[in-house]
Amino acid sequence: MNTDELFKKLIAHAKEYGFIFPSSEIYDGLSAVYDYGPMGVELKNAIKDYWWQAQVRLHENIVGIDSAIFMHPRVWEASGHLSAFNDPLIDNRDSKKRYRADVLVEEHIAKLEEKLEKEVEKGRRRFGASFDEAQFRSTNPQVQRTLARILEIRVRLDVALNRNDLAALRQLIIDCEIVCPVSGSRNWTDVRQFNLMFSTRLGSVSDEANVVYLRPETAQGIFVNFLQVQKTGRMKIPFGIAQIGKAFRNEIVARQFIFRMREFEQMEMQFFVRPGDELKWFDYWKSERLRWHLALGLDASNYRFHPHDKLAHYANAAADIEFAFPFGFKELEGIHSRTDFDLTQHQTFSGRKQQYFDPETNESYVPYVVETSIGVDRMFLAILSAAYGEEALDGGETRVVLRLPPALAPVKLAVLPLVKKDGLPEKARAIQQALRFDFNCQYDEKDSIGKRYRRQDAIGTPFCITIDHQSLDDDTVTIRYRDTMRQDRAPIAELRDLIGRQVDMRTLLEKI
Ligand code: GAP
Repeated sequence: MNTDELFKKLIAHAKEYGFIFPSSEIYDGLSAVYDYGPMGVELKNAIKDYWWQAQVRLHENIVGIDSAIFMHPRVWEASGHLSAFNDPLIDNRDSKKRYRADVLVEEHIAKLEEKLEKEVEKGRRRFGASFDEAQFRSTNPQVQRTLARILEIRVRLDVALNRNDLAALRQLIIDCEIVCPVSGSRNWTDVRQFNLMFSTRLGSVSDEANVVYLRPETAQGIFVNFLQVQKTGRMKIPFGIAQIGKAFRNEIVARQFIFRMREFEQMEMQFFVRPGDELKWFDYWKSERLRWHLALGLDASNYRFHPHDKLAHYANAAADIEFAFPFGFKELEGIHSRTDFDLTQHQTFSGRKQQYFDPETNESYVPYVVETSIGVDRMFLAILSAAYGEEALDGGETRVVLRLPPALAPVKLAVLPLVKKDGLPEKARAIQQALRFDFNCQYDEKDSIGKRYRRQDAIGTPFCITIDHQSLDDDTVTIRYRDTMRQDRAPIAELRDLIGRQVDMRTLLEKI
């Protein structure tokens, strides 16, 4: 199965089993907006819980807040989002379609790269066993020409973006002879900057003074509350403030399912440190966050660091944790050393001091900040795609199984009476009623036991127990393990401990 096929299957599976639905689908959906169904909301809540417990509960010097989505509009002036949170856009006059200019160029480069790989494949077929790929790549004239072309376009793109030279960006699109995928024409407008923040109006008076924005990151809610939290919590530097909440961006290139959405959720933590200590803490948080990911038990080869060569004006170090999504390695989480930029800006714009008095050094200063920022939805997609598997079974059947970390699985245990008679449903119900206080249990008596197992595999339930006639005699059940499909006999009285131990969030937290 190629990665495209896998991704399509994953999206269909997420819908069929109640994980993710396109928003307002009865009206044909809303682009890049999604709803989480009954299974999805459980998994999403578990991800948030895992993050919160790891960041807040396990760190004495990190506390949480929940700030409002709406903030004073000056916040976004101070943070630079009003002037600089932009994408360069271009319209095609014939199709009236709008594109991100840099993405059109990136896609053109991707096509050239594809062409280059095809050329290499042709060489491999032509020369057979004697094929020397490195030599072919460095000497074949066609490959060399394409490589040089890619390099030239990349350099021009980087220069245009770095200098914010929109005319040069347009010229690059013209020179590359990029056509609109809808109209097929090259009838392009100028490139313009487009702000990604959604705006609306506060109250009943519709004038410019009442414009408010839907926050594009949760971080600013932390910055503007920094001193209140520090004082009320008597926090001493270094300390952190964590927050989970919705963020909104009017993404123009919104695709790849829940990877890039217009309404999404972030889990962010700002760690306030002494000026000069920030790079030490940056390294600390890089390794700490990677450990959080690895504790989930998804293959370590799924993760890699991508250090930023080009830093935002407020950062003195930045790196992404990238994940091997079905469409390649892409950013999952960002770790940024944001210096004292945000707090200093808020100090200037609000006229209120944003300084910390350090009792150890007897100095007052604006702290430096190291940020960890991860999208809940991206994390959801990472887990779902790594967990999804198709397995051939004896007898020609295939099972789809979600190998979710048990502590995150939406349903921890399925309770299944073997048949719908002889008192088995009553016995099964009694077990489910008792265990539902400990973890999420699902009762299912419909269809054959094989079909019921398949349904539970498809939603990632780590344990199924089957109540049969022997259960009535000796109070034991069959326990079936999702990953191995092994079946053991276990006393009903031991189920709480046996299953509880493995689905408890503690199992993950202890591994970090
Ligand atoms: N406060 C820093 C900040 O917002 P960012 O790199 O723009 O930095 C942080 O975003 C994380 O938020 C990303 O690593 C990603 O996981 C998530 N994210 C950003 N934009 C997103 C979008 N449109 N849809 C889903 N997740 C998004």
